[in-house]
Amino acid sequence: DANPESDPWRPEYHFAPSTGWMNDPNGLIYHDGVYHLFYQAGERRRRWDHATSSDLVTWTERGTKIPDTDSIQAFSGGAVVDSRNTAGFGTDAIVALYTGHHDDGTEDQRLAYSTDDGETFQKYENNPVIESNTGEFRDPNPFWYEPDESWRLVVSRVEATDDRPAGIEIYRSPNLLDWTYESTYVDEAGAGWECPSLFERPVEGADEARWVLPVSPIEHRSVEYHIGRFDGTAFVDEEVHSADHGYDFYATQQWGNEPADRDLLLTWMNNWEYAMEGPDPGWRGVMTVPRTLTLEADDNGLAVIQRPAEELVCARRDPVAELHSEPITPGRDPLDGTELAGRTLEIETTITPQSASTIGLAVRTGPEQESVISYDPTDGTLRFDRSNAGEFFGSNGTERETTAVELPPTDALDLRVLIDRCSVEIFAANGRHTMTNLVYPDRESTGVSLFAEDGVARVEELVAYTLSAE
Ligand code: FRU
Repeated sequence: DANPESDPWRPEYHFAPSTGWMNDPNGLIYHDGVYHLFYQAGERRRRWDHATSSDLVTWTERGTKIPDTDSIQAFSGGAVVDSRNTAGFGTDAIVALYTGHHDDGTEDQRLAYSTDDGETFQKYENNPVIESNTGEFRDPNPFWYEPDESWRLVVSRVEATDDRPAGIEIYRSPNLLDWTYESTYVDEAGAGWECPSLFERPVEGADEARWVLPVSPIEHRSVEYHIGRFDGTAFVDEEVHSADHGYDFYATQQWGNEPADRDLLLTWMNNWEYAMEGPDPGWRGVMTVPRTLTLEADDNGLAVIQRPAEELVCARRDPVAELHSEPITPGRDPLDGTELAGRTLEIETTITPQSASTIGLAVRTGPEQESVISYDPTDGTLRFDRSNAGEFFGSNGTERETTAVELPPTDALDLRVLIDRCSVEIFAANGRHTMTNLVYPDRESTGVSLFAEDGVARVEELVAYTLSAE
């Protein structure tokens, strides 16, 4: 691989900036065969940098597009392609809405646009488009609302003011410039949400659709999908799902105009608790793989299914291991003698616990390290343990070593695991539960093993590939 010794964690097929800092994905749009990703760059003063991809695996950096000024930083937001020229900047102008974070803490909502496919942006001369004289009001995300052919925008009122509760405010506009307040989806727990978006998704297996509102609750350093109804004015929730059960999943955004009618999401793979303390090989920050979100009707409501974007299949090289119906016992790992090892792998497997008390898969194993995925069939708990997966979670991250989720009852555990040089993303129960975590193993730790404790288990199927972006 191309990475020097000094940079053992640079991802192969996840986006990370070549230099400098990155946090939230911003302004995800698709235009003329190109996926655009803008993102929060600048460790101390934030701005929007830009990258593009045609295959969602390899990305090209395109530089800073919305810079900060002496007194106003460019915080997170979203973008749209104005195909009807509602704003008057030109047909197919890319219009970005972002938060102006003033040095005195005030946050207002601003606009910048591009008429050359995202190469250059101009800040709108009459900014801000949503005025404010308070702080804690950020992350505007616009979308087209088909029923009345006008724009909507969600933006987070992170803290209540004298006249507005905390929550997600919804605005309406005919032209992306003039915005009218419609309602607030109230954050009753007062958790403080950041980075909202809102999109409609059909429910598979039912002749209906729901609106999905991802938010990032600040205190939990996580993402929730609020799912419910939206009538163009107000959002009403019916269900709330945890988007992911790992520690490194924040500030999810969605490609609003994806051509294949999928809902494709991207998330910052880090945690504010320790993001600024991680290793610093000259760059900091990595995104998850792009994931699709689908809804399925389920006995207890809706199931939210997340999968890696199909494009990731292109990164697979020939299988490095395949197993069919092999026993796993405390003394026998059916992977012994296979070629399966590496720092960039995809592993798909189904394991029946049989009489074992715990089954699992250890990845990035080496002389001194391991990252362990385990499953306890008696209570259905899936765990990820990175306590021995390298250092660097910083003083604030020391508690965040093992994470767990209860899976739906099943006879066999199915897992799809994506391993890159500094991450392990787990898709369990056919994508019904995911777990995303950073790890910082040494270069020697490339092993993979299957295990069963106190009894016998059977690996029904396993196929593993090396993933490469080249
Ligand atoms: C979320 C966040 C956003 C803000 C941005 C600043 O990670 O705090 O609310 O706009 O980061 O970079």
